[in-house]
Amino acid sequence: MTTSNNRTADHPIDVSFLNRWSPRAFTQETIPEATLLTFFEAARWAPSSYNSQPWRFAYARRDTEHWTQFLGFLNEFNRSWAQHSAAIVIVLSKNTFTPPGGTAEVPATTHSFDSGAAWAYLALQASLSGWHAHGMAGIEHDKIRQGLAVPDAYSIEAGVAIGRAGDKNSLPEPLRAREVPSPRKPLAEIAAEGRLVL
Ligand SMILES: Cc1cc2nc3c(=O)[nH]c(=O)nc-3n(C[C@H](O)[C@H](O)[C@H](O)COP(=O)(O)O)c2cc1C
Repeated sequence: MTTSNNRTADHPIDVSFLNRWSPRAFTQETIPEATLLTFFEAARWAPSSYNSQPWRFAYARRDTEHWTQFLGFLNEFNRSWAQHSAAIVIVLSKNTFTPPGGTAEVPATTHSFDSGAAWAYLALQASLSGWHAHGMAGIEHDKIRQGLAVPDAYSIEAGVAIGRAGDKNSLPEPLRAREVPSPRKPLAEIAAEGRLVL
């Protein structure tokens, strides 16, 4: 058993996995670009099919030129709390690739899977560095495709808000109650030898 961050893992794991979580209360502290780049650097070392590295990260930092535009890429709910974060990241992925020895682009079947791994590395590095990264499905796909001139060969995966965790009392009541590290399904509900758990 491993316990940390009000969470208990049933099997021994590194506490880093328990310490990473997704707060919505942020301090409004700005983030140095050099710090943010270390999170992307960690993401860069994620594994991917054929080492195709399909992930792409478009970002804006608080108090910089593109901040307002990137806040506008979030839905209203996510904007309500992510406006206090230090950086907004849009994760995209290239959905075609040229296989080794090939000459033409073919559909990449694992571009989202690979990019999910990269986002997880990013989030873990942020947590290890004393920051937090919060994934967001609630984003405005049409606005992003237009605003970032995203070609068809690139998929818009998700948004991420990055910041320093703040005081949960800064959140409106319904969100305050949810501002705790969440539990997980028992391992037996997600993994089994020789069969699929439904
Ligand atoms: C791809 C993805 C999309 C998510 N979308 C949202 C979202 O739109 N809004 C939100 O408040 N949280 C969102 N979350 C946060 C999840 O609810 C959160 O990661 C999950 O409850 C597990 O909690 P933890 O990250 O604190 O361990 C998202 C997380 C991921 C990975």
